Amino acid sequence: MIDIHHHCLPGVDDGPRTLAESVDQCRMAADEGIETIVATPHVLRGRWKNTSRTQLTSILDELRGKVGENPRIVLGSEYFFAHDMDEMLRGESIIPLAGGRYILVEFASNAVPPLVREPLYRIQLEGWTPVIAHPERNIIFQSKPEFLASLIRIGVKTQVTTGSITGEFGPEAQAAATDWLRRGWVHVMATDAHNGTKRPPRFRAARERVADLAGEQIAQALFVDNPKSIVENRGLVYDPDLPEASGNESGRLFSRIRKMLTR
Ligand SMILES: [Fe+2]
Repeated sequence: MIDIHHHCLPGVDDGPRTLAESVDQCRMAADEGIETIVATPHVLRGRWKNTSRTQLTSILDELRGKVGENPRIVLGSEYFFAHDMDEMLRGESIIPLAGGRYILVEFASNAVPPLVREPLYRIQLEGWTPVIAHPERNIIFQSKPEFLASLIRIGVKTQVTTGSITGEFGPEAQAAATDWLRRGWVHVMATDAHNGTKRPPRFRAARERVADLAGEQIAQALFVDNPKSIVENRGLVYDPDLPEASGNESGRLFSRIRKMLTR
């Protein structure tokens, strides 16, 4: 299995503080059946001073030196959304997942900024694919799921946290994750692990739960095939079309333009 959202680099954000903690966390991940980790340090201007790609690469190399190839660790980032993300993508601070064209994007848990559709659409015209990190933990998406669906219809992908499906982030996140899984709104599952204690890299229990809820084929897609596609920078294997909401003319227009451009 492949985990595309995982804070395992020491001392760069709110993940592990020391190299020893990082190594333990990676070994826990391997025990959970995770063969590849995408290390995704937070990128939030003003809060984390970790935006040097050279610095992160050297920390990753040090970690790899201790962990070896099980699990394999590759670099990415978790970008805190700002409206100028298209300009930011021309620089070095946002690191695409495994160096491909998928970008992990997070919002605060209690808000989604206004007018996010256009920038999330515009970056796709430049060849990027936004993946929203843990929308099921966001109260706006929980209360307005159709808003999330409208983003998926314009090509945005979603990553749900394994701990949400098993109830560790509360009943609201679990209910949203379960509902969206059944509707085909979830593209990939990931741990969003931060440490070995409070937020450990748990995968197996969530995979079993997803298989119970949606079937083994969907579990295989969300834990193996789609994350593999992201790491190998290909189109997703499992990417169901969502029916249009009635009366949603602008959503239909976005969808039509997207289909014309991706033919
Ligand atoms: Fe994260």
